[in-house]
Amino acid sequence: RIRVAILISGRGSNMSALIEAAKAPDYPAEIVGVLSNRAAAPGLEIAASHGIATASLAQSRFPSRDMFEDIMTQMLESWDVDIVCLAGFMRILGEDFVTRWAGKMINIHPSLLPLYKGLHTHERALADGAKVHGCTVHFVTPGLDEGAPILQAEVPVLPGDTPESLSARVLIEEHRIYPEALRTLASTQALAP
Ligand code: GAR
Repeated sequence: RIRVAILISGRGSNMSALIEAAKAPDYPAEIVGVLSNRAAAPGLEIAASHGIATASLAQSRFPSRDMFEDIMTQMLESWDVDIVCLAGFMRILGEDFVTRWAGKMINIHPSLLPLYKGLHTHERALADGAKVHGCTVHFVTPGLDEGAPILQAEVPVLPGDTPESLSARVLIEEHRIYPEALRTLASTQALAP
C-alpha cells in the first residue's frame, strides 16, 4: 500500500477521517505518520491512539523556514512516505519543500477554489451573500491554494447561517471528499512504475 503522512496543526478531524478510511482492507493507502508544527495539537494524541507514529516540530526552533522544512522532509523520508496530506496545516510551505513533494502532496481547503483562497473562508462567503460554498482537495503548488483541484463538494448557504453553522456543514463534506481524493491519488501512484 501507498505510504501516507499527514501534516496537521490542530484538531485533526480531517486526519481522523483519513485514518478511519485507511482502515478498510481495500483502501490503497496506509497512514504511517502524523507530523504537527504544534506540540499541543489535539490531533497528535488521536493519531497516537491509533498506533500511528507522531512527531512535532516547531518552526520557531529553527533558524530558518528552509531548515525547518528540510527536517520535515528528513522525517517524512525516514517514514518512507509516498504521499503527504495537509490537513489543517496552518503554515505556508516554501518552494523547496513544495517542489520536493510535487505531485505527491495534497491539501484540503474550506472553499470552492479558486474562490476564497487563504483564511476566514466561511466569513467571506457569508459577507458576499454566496448561495453555495464548499471545499476542495487540491495539489499543493508554491502559490497558496492554487494547485489543480482533485475533488470538490458544494453545500448550500442557508438563511441565518453563521460562520460556525456553515463551517460545520462544509466540514461534513471535507471528511467525505478527502478520503475519496486520497484513494484516487494513491490508486494512480500504485500503478506508476
Ligand atoms: C479544516 O476545515 C480545513 O479545511 C482547514 O482547517 C480546518 C482544519 O480542521 N484548512 C485550512 O483552512 C487550510 N488553509 P481539522 O484539523 O479538524 O481537520
